[in-house]
Amino acid sequence: MIWKRCFETGIRPIDDEHRVLVTLIQKLEGSMYDGSVTKTTGMVLKELVDYVKFHFRNEEEVMSRVGFPELARHKILHKDLVNDVASILIDMKHGKPCTASELIGFLNYWLRDHILEEDMKIAQFLRLV
Ligand SMILES: [Fe+2]
Repeated sequence: MIWKRCFETGIRPIDDEHRVLVTLIQKLEGSMYDGSVTKTTGMVLKELVDYVKFHFRNEEEVMSRVGFPELARHKILHKDLVNDVASILIDMKHGKPCTASELIGFLNYWLRDHILEEDMKIAQFLRLV
């Protein structure tokens, strides 16, 4: 995954954290070998889950500070995303790994669609885009 200008919400702290997420996904891509997930993939995925939780908390704080009307709905989306990725991690721990392309496809879709469709609504609310 590469950072694209269209990912920018114009909300500086959120954009900075989204960049870190993209970097972590790149690290995850780099941890795969020959189309398969490795032990390192699990470790990076754990790092990603932790960072995502940290980021979602911050994003929710921003939304609540600016009075974003869809905060409750957005919080549910965050919770679902964390649960989805956490369950992949649990599966991996139990020796049921998904394939590298499944994982990358999921994360790309997960981050890109969430930023482009949902986080942009915060920027639209603030009239930043
Ligand atoms: Fe979000």
